[in-house]
Amino acid sequence: MTAAGIDQTISALRVSAVERAEAAATQEELEAVRVEVLGRKGALNTISKEFGKLSPEDRKRIGQLLNEAKQSIEAAIETRAVAFESAKLNARLASEWLDLTLPAPGPRRGSLHPITIIQSEIEELFVSMGFTVLDGPEVETEEHNFDALNIPADHPARDMQDTFWLEGGNVLRTHTSPVQVRGMRKLKPPFRMIAPGRVFRNEAVDASHEHTFYQIEGMMVDREASVAHLIFFMKEMLRAIMHRDVKIRLRPGFFPFVEPGFELDLQCFICAGAGCAVCKQSGWVEQLGCGLVHPNVLRMSGIDPEVWNGFAFGLGLTRLAMMRYGIDDIRWLQSGDLRFLRQF
Ligand code: FA5
Repeated sequence: MTAAGIDQTISALRVSAVERAEAAATQEELEAVRVEVLGRKGALNTISKEFGKLSPEDRKRIGQLLNEAKQSIEAAIETRAVAFESAKLNARLASEWLDLTLPAPGPRRGSLHPITIIQSEIEELFVSMGFTVLDGPEVETEEHNFDALNIPADHPARDMQDTFWLEGGNVLRTHTSPVQVRGMRKLKPPFRMIAPGRVFRNEAVDASHEHTFYQIEGMMVDREASVAHLIFFMKEMLRAIMHRDVKIRLRPGFFPFVEPGFELDLQCFICAGAGCAVCKQSGWVEQLGCGLVHPNVLRMSGIDPEVWNGFAFGLGLTRLAMMRYGIDDIRWLQSGDLRFLRQF
């Protein structure tokens, strides 16, 4: 081929390659142009093979021409490739659009557990009536959990609460009553104390019984503490916590550390007294045990029963939470299920 022929071929190739690149409808078409024209076996390389036959001046001029053609074809291919990329991006943005005017979701906050809510309300109420809040250990001595509460070893009352015994004779406390003992030994009469906490019983679980649940203990020791005082405080507490009038029923109940002793039932809030699994079809749910402190119990903790007397109660906090929130199975409370917890 002559030098003039090569000139013409390069110009024609440049024009047609740029046109084809600009008109490429797909990335594949564009790639085909690149391979055909710029590839190792492409048209431009084929032309450069003719160089050997040219004069040095022609070689220089045509070399430059070839370079310019290559650059402009590359630029056209690059421009088209960028257009393909941005079209792809636009298509993605169109499918994933965001409405920036929508209010952003706030940070997701945790919430208080229903038992924590009720416990704080009861504490606040009793503190406003002059009660001190005490704490006690979950691993208790046998003496605090039983003996000092007038429940000696071999007494049948020990079997009233199925106990988790620990090595060395300690127990997982079966009730919050051992904190009464700690209170009597720590505070000088007259005093009023409450003690919320977790308790443990080795018993079968059902809709209203857990092996691990919460109680709140209360005790008032004074020169004059009567059943009338006790009932007054219990009614005040239940009305305040349930946020409505409550129907209660008092039955005689046996606890070795009180005399007389009572059990207080709340009309079942799940079925409004009609009967359900929670109240075992009776319409009533046992909520607390209470009574006047037994003289032996006062004496064993160094308080003279001739001068002082008192009342005590042990309320099932977990059951109260069920009544207040209409929870029909006690197992929800410790399930850790977020669908349940997010409702509070
Ligand atoms: C006691 O635990 C006594 N210490 C209460 C007491 C204190 C009486 C002071 C007198 C003076 P009782 O075993 O009945 O008593 O339990 C008290 C309350 O805890 C019950 O009324 C009930 O509301 C709750 N309760 C008892 N067992 C369970 C259980 N397995 N699951 C959930 N709540 C329970």
